[in-house]
Amino acid sequence: MKHIYALGGAGLLLSTSMLAVLAQTAPSTPPAPPQFDAQQIPTFVGVDDILEFKALPEYHEPDFVKAFVDAGKLPPVAERLPAEPMVYKTANMPDGVGVYGDVIRHVIGGRPEGWNYSAGQTQGWGGIDIGLSECLTRTGPLFQVRAEELAPLPNLAKSWEWSEDGHELTMHLVEGAKWSDGDPFDAGDIMFYWNDVILDPQVTPLNGASPETFGAGTTLEAIDPYTIKWTFKDVRPTQYLYAMAYGNFCPGPSHILKTEHPKYKDGATYDQFKNAFPPEFLNMPVMGAWVPVEYRADDIIAMRRNPYYWKVDENGNQLPYLDEAHYRLSTWADRDVQAVAGSGDLSNLEQPESFVEALRRSAEDTAPARLAFGARTISYSIYPNLSANGWGEPDERGQAVRELNRDLNFRKAVSFGLNRQALGEALVRGPFTTPYAGGLMPPTSYYDNDSTVYYPYSADDAKALLEEAGLVDTDGNGFVNFPANVAGGADVQITLLGTSDYQTDKSLAEGVVAQMEAIGLRILLQSQAGNQRDANEASGKFDWSLRRVDAELITVVQNTQNLAPTGPQIARGHRAGTDGNLDLLPFEQEMVDTVNAFVATADADERIALMKTYQKLYTDNVYAIGLTQYPGALIINKRFANVPEGTPILQFNWAEDGLIRERLYVPEDQQSSAELFPDTLPGAPGVGNGPVTSN
Ligand code: GLA
Repeated sequence: MKHIYALGGAGLLLSTSMLAVLAQTAPSTPPAPPQFDAQQIPTFVGVDDILEFKALPEYHEPDFVKAFVDAGKLPPVAERLPAEPMVYKTANMPDGVGVYGDVIRHVIGGRPEGWNYSAGQTQGWGGIDIGLSECLTRTGPLFQVRAEELAPLPNLAKSWEWSEDGHELTMHLVEGAKWSDGDPFDAGDIMFYWNDVILDPQVTPLNGASPETFGAGTTLEAIDPYTIKWTFKDVRPTQYLYAMAYGNFCPGPSHILKTEHPKYKDGATYDQFKNAFPPEFLNMPVMGAWVPVEYRADDIIAMRRNPYYWKVDENGNQLPYLDEAHYRLSTWADRDVQAVAGSGDLSNLEQPESFVEALRRSAEDTAPARLAFGARTISYSIYPNLSANGWGEPDERGQAVRELNRDLNFRKAVSFGLNRQALGEALVRGPFTTPYAGGLMPPTSYYDNDSTVYYPYSADDAKALLEEAGLVDTDGNGFVNFPANVAGGADVQITLLGTSDYQTDKSLAEGVVAQMEAIGLRILLQSQAGNQRDANEASGKFDWSLRRVDAELITVVQNTQNLAPTGPQIARGHRAGTDGNLDLLPFEQEMVDTVNAFVATADADERIALMKTYQKLYTDNVYAIGLTQYPGALIINKRFANVPEGTPILQFNWAEDGLIRERLYVPEDQQSSAELFPDTLPGAPGVGNGPVTSN
């Protein structure tokens, strides 16, 4: 629908210098996504149906581990487990109690920087850090929890209670749990993580948690070795329980980290701390199910079962069932190829370029892997850098782009200039992709179509709005220029930060460059390796960043504070400038207020209304520029049992968490002989020469 001079809702101001008649396409709601039915639905349960913490009459372990005990090299299993281990209930296991043995073979596209998750080092993604880290609470498996009972699963915190006035939350840690080297896990690890990681401005953990992640003014103290107490400014802010899951509150081994942290080691620098545990530093103590025992650059990270893992099944079998885990260091596209071919075990099929081939092969009877699509939770957006007070220290051109980014006419021009249908179809044809307006994602419970403002493709409107923003092609080269008094009146040139790790990211970025060229905007693609992209983005060194959208726009209740720039280091597109302040635009301040109001209320109707307001603010103001949205599919080798039905590749967390990998097993007659280190266990930390054998 085109309206000439449609000034109402869009609030367009006509410039007198303008000769052409301005066409203005009325914003609408996003088009209905195409129907798609190869999608699996989970069986819904309550949190208590999944697990409990209790002592069992006896415990079991694999025979080869028992051999270590018999040889006097390892305490008996009952002594290695907590007094009350976490017990997974049989009724919630799709195939019941499992058997020991075999390997899960992952393929990942990232590369490990080192094991210091607490200081921000990536281990290469693809579920590797998810598996190493255990967090106070857990959310990945919540896709199968009934909406009425939705609350994070207990994990390192086995239970908690709120004070009468709702400001205090007391958490009880699993008593007697141990790190994979046998060192006790307790409140000391929690307080090191809080004081010397979260509160230390020079240390930022991998997924970027900062004090505001848990609410401004929140404090944490240890009451005794197994009790901690949070104090919040708000009353019963239950969604911080979600913030205590992956990847915000997953403490590292303080007994090892302290030996290198500048506060505890004389003369150590923060840089040295960050890099003290390189990939070659093997057997880093973890609370997760498998421990790294082998690293070969650009080849593999191999892990063996953690003999101190603190989770069991109802028969008292210590988990995990799988003795080994591999992470092949390859590419993300290869992850799909190998999972479909059967040489890898798992992939989140998330690059639409491989959908058709993967679907075709998986449909064959002889296919080694099963494939199931979930909801449309994979979305891409462009985040314009909205800071004008120095974040990332832009030069004159960069600063001029920041000012443009802060101009609503400019952001709308970009949105009108995008042909999202074409962007999606360039990735894959068929009913997969659908235009994404930005903000909350349609398959979520808080999404409201009527509160979603969508600027449909209209090159004419885009051009008119660029002119409104003061951008005219003064030198006739097809690209608009800055006004004469800005950056010397040069061509507007905008860098688009993206990653070359994924074909999808590259294709979308190239599509955006071409579409922007058509409306006269010159975009320069900066396609970088994931680690480098993440570092540049986190330090504000970008004009626009194109990336896959984070999961809080799916769940809302998890990482709620990340929905808006609620703290100086929270938002992807807007962090504090060199003066430490956040120069929020008025609508951003409204978004922040809306998110804070959401956090502060438990009233369901109020929350729904607040998220409508949020969605309207986000999409009307084009806070970030939505591109395309599509479903992903989980591919998993058919030999695995206990794969929960309908596991989404991304909802509360990635599938690698949702799957509950410690419960996966392979029936004996289907076990592979892929173990690289049979009959071995992880050795002492830092030994660097692989696992310890039983003889
Ligand atoms: C990468 C992959 C995702 C998922 C995550 C897990 O981002 O692309 O599919 O495996 O890692 O962290």
